[in-house]
Amino acid sequence: MESLVTADAGTATLEDSFEGTLTDKLREQFEAGLLSGQQLRPDFTIEQPLHRYTASDHAVWARLYERQAGMLRGRVCDEFLQGLAALGMASDRVPDFERLNETLMRATGWQVVAVPGLVPDEVFFDHLANRRFPASWWMRKPEQLDYLQEPDCFHDVFGHVPLLINPVFADYMQAYGKGGLKAASMGALDMLARLYWYTVEFGLIRTGQGLRIYGAGILSSQGESIYSLDSASPNRIGFDVRRIMRTRYRIDTFQKTYFVIDSFDQLFDATRPDFTPLYAALSTQPTLGAGDIEPGDRVIHTGSREGWADSDDI
Ligand SMILES: [Fe+2]
Repeated sequence: MESLVTADAGTATLEDSFEGTLTDKLREQFEAGLLSGQQLRPDFTIEQPLHRYTASDHAVWARLYERQAGMLRGRVCDEFLQGLAALGMASDRVPDFERLNETLMRATGWQVVAVPGLVPDEVFFDHLANRRFPASWWMRKPEQLDYLQEPDCFHDVFGHVPLLINPVFADYMQAYGKGGLKAASMGALDMLARLYWYTVEFGLIRTGQGLRIYGAGILSSQGESIYSLDSASPNRIGFDVRRIMRTRYRIDTFQKTYFVIDSFDQLFDATRPDFTPLYAALSTQPTLGAGDIEPGDRVIHTGSREGWADSDDI
């Protein structure tokens, strides 16, 4: 595969790899996830260090899994629960990625690959474009059960992997990766990142039984799993690619707005066209605040705005 890292095969160093690609904070976090003596491959992946998980790591996984799997019934979309069941994901210990991959590869040709932490955008897109989902190998600490900013193994694996068994969502994720490589070359990453944020991470889907969660950022969080569906505070607005690409978001609080798709087919179809003219058209329009409601929005619920942070949205 292609890689940004130009060091000799298999001998990339962090210095080579990070030159100008990640912020100091992300680099620090990435380095913390790379164990001493461990080989970082040119595509930023590592062997999942199964022997390094502690009893506490497994206990944190089991606690989070039990809590989320229980509370998500009736809240998460059926496709997620079907994926979770089909994968036979371990509930009592951190899953072995290789075992997940046996099922995942057979189903949709996707695989989970271990990384020390967040990887540079182009590396991430390249993995997705080749049906590889980079997952942090490490687990959050017991005192971080409810919140941590960086994606850990629970968020990445429990949150993202079950839907990769759904053929339409699997195709959407690959298309996103291909689109990302292109957007990066066109200076349009902000717009595309908003699409990922409001779908893959914080998306809701309309079903015959009411709204359901499919975004990994919601469903790996107990608080937001309740808030996103039950709270009167956030807006819930029908999915619209152009609208989403202009909308800023929160990384430090629950979202002010959730966008609702009608189906995964709608999501995939909306992202099928070449975004080049869209990027050009949107680049001349102002961005929107995370909680704004615009004329033309298909508003499902107007948020009460209760508890919304005053600070600027990203
Ligand atoms: Fe995520």
